[in-house]
Amino acid sequence: MKRIFSGVQPTGNLHLGNYLGAIRQFVALQHDYDCIYCVVDLHAITQWQEPGELRDQIRQVAAAYLAAGVDPQRCIIFNQSQVPAHAELAWIFNCVARLGWLNRMTQFKEKAGKHREQASAGLYVYPNLMAADILAYKASHVPVGEDQKQHLELTRDIAQKFNHDYGTEFFPIVEPLILSAAARVMSLRDGAKKMSKSDPSDASRLNMTDGPDEVAQKIRRAKTDTELLPGPDVLGAEGTLGEEARKARPEAYNLLGIYAALSDRSWTEVLAEFEGQQFSHFKQVLTDLAVAVLGPMGEEMQRMAGDPAYVDGILRSGAEKANAIAEPILRDVQDIVGF
Ligand code: ADP
Ligand code: NA
Repeated sequence: MKRIFSGVQPTGNLHLGNYLGAIRQFVALQHDYDCIYCVVDLHAITQWQEPGELRDQIRQVAAAYLAAGVDPQRCIIFNQSQVPAHAELAWIFNCVARLGWLNRMTQFKEKAGKHREQASAGLYVYPNLMAADILAYKASHVPVGEDQKQHLELTRDIAQKFNHDYGTEFFPIVEPLILSAAARVMSLRDGAKKMSKSDPSDASRLNMTDGPDEVAQKIRRAKTDTELLPGPDVLGAEGTLGEEARKARPEAYNLLGIYAALSDRSWTEVLAEFEGQQFSHFKQVLTDLAVAVLGPMGEEMQRMAGDPAYVDGILRSGAEKANAIAEPILRDVQDIVGF
């Protein structure tokens, strides 16, 4: 069976973007693929994490997978640091990847910002660790958003160079599973910014654990514009929303896109439903839907937060299963390298 590897960083409150853009897809993919879903704590510490918070957030990510419907009998759910092959293979890849390749990574430039010299060395070699995450399981497919496409290219380059340098065909060349663009959720306060765990404004995101009152308040206060809601005539060929239309009213289309994603309906259907209406009415309908989808999951996550032994048990048995796959692959790599 085709194998998928994916992960989420335990670096803050999980939000609607993480759900629609990643975790919901994890649930759907489990029926057709052999799925390995990781809590990537080694990646998290490329930027400072307070240890107590990190521990809680590791459990929160695992709880989110479970609450969303990832089945631990069918998939492997585990914590990256508990499988040594990730770090060991990453070191070998540090010696395969070229500095020039890493220098081209735009995410490092964004994350390091103006304080490049102060960024951790880990943040710089992060894409090599990501390659190790995927190749330690010889995964064939990785679900990626736009933002991770460049890193996946690097994984392919590393696999190719390793195979070439050592005269082997050991590593597969992994394929991206490109997820729908509609799944890119923007901040509720600024339509030009991604909804993100690291946004200091809690009002910018719907957390997976927000209760009905918080959801209602955040949606009510979400930034919009003063025009009435658009109709399907703004759509381009095949019912797609063009970049230009989106840019003209980013906040409006973000909320409409969230509604379409949460209700599993097309742009055409959603725009036809609300054409010419006021935002106040639409926001009420969106609130009801968001509460209906997020509510039960959030409650399940809260319940698991009160029972850490349950989540820890899932992570422990997941790490055993992950180790059973990754360890023999690492041993073969070591043999190829000459260790
Ligand atoms: P964050 O950017 O919030 O820290 P991560 O980098 O840990 O989140 O991303 C975890 C997963 O969630 C990735 O697959 C990423 O593509 C997805 N994701 C994060 N933010 C969004 C968003 N605003 N819209 C859609 N998907 C998102
Ligand atoms: Na991120």
